Amino acid sequence: MITTTAPGKVYLFGEHAVVYNQPAMASAINKRIKIELEERSDKEILIHPNDLSFKEISFEYSEDGFKLKNKLKRSFPSLEYIKTAIDLIKREIRDNSGFEINITSELPPAGGLGSSAALTVSLIAALNKFYGLNFDKREIANKSYKIEKEVQGGASPCDTFTSAMGGITKVIPGETLTKKEKMDLPIVVGSTRQESSTSKLVKKVKKLKIENSEIIDPLIDDIGKITLKGEKALENRKLRKVGQLMDINQGILDALNVSNLKLSELIYSTRKVGAWGSKLTGAGGGGCMVALGDRKEEIKNAIKVRDGEVIADQITAKGVEVR
Ligand code: PMV
Repeated sequence: MITTTAPGKVYLFGEHAVVYNQPAMASAINKRIKIELEERSDKEILIHPNDLSFKEISFEYSEDGFKLKNKLKRSFPSLEYIKTAIDLIKREIRDNSGFEINITSELPPAGGLGSSAALTVSLIAALNKFYGLNFDKREIANKSYKIEKEVQGGASPCDTFTSAMGGITKVIPGETLTKKEKMDLPIVVGSTRQESSTSKLVKKVKKLKIENSEIIDPLIDDIGKITLKGEKALENRKLRKVGQLMDINQGILDALNVSNLKLSELIYSTRKVGAWGSKLTGAGGGGCMVALGDRKEEIKNAIKVRDGEVIADQITAKGVEVR
């Protein structure tokens, strides 16, 4: 059996602006998706998503693509990522052997923590090992990005790169993807327990930007400036400065109308108990927030009292791992 895991991520700075070629910074977090892959003697591909409503999903794969063997009452949201990943690899190596995949996730779906990226990275790493393809982490990140882009019709490379490499990463679309020196950050990630749609929110910002470009364009540029200033503050370990910049970033995300009441409640209540900075992470409109500060217990409590769920409390240097 092959076992792989890959982490989720939070945006420290730059979501939404990254869509308009501004830099962004993200960090991998200590919650992961696990894939267990085992060979079968027939050609069947069996997926155990461990979602209560889907015990298993079964396919036969041929050069024409996938043939679903059991009926699905509703769509399984992550299925497109899984199918596209398997298809990409199988087409490259022209193989139709069967296997079973077991998925276990510690990440809430559609919550701004890059769960689809972690799933894709983990699966590509498992197939890489299964077929002995010798992709390195960067190649796994590139393949996974291609899959995310195909399934979503557009994506930034931030999620897949951060999940594959681990640690804190900086992304400038079309230019550079870099992993920063190993560093630690005291964070707490809280969920509103509300799912949100990244593509809808990206479209919402686009509309706002088209209708008010003279106002919105400078705000998008400002987010880019926040990222660059935040990068320096991080490098100099000026964590209170990092927090201040996260708060300014949140103010602009609010102006872009991607925050909401529940996010604001969690963000303001964590600031009230001493977080140095607090902002939403990812697309917004629900999903998760991230607070920076050393009073972790107080911050966690503030999230719970407001009916949020504490998801993660550490960043991680560990990217994708294979056992
Ligand atoms: O919510 P997530 O984790 O899918 O992050 C979305 C980040 C955006 O900048 C809004 C979109 C993107 O593809 O970069």
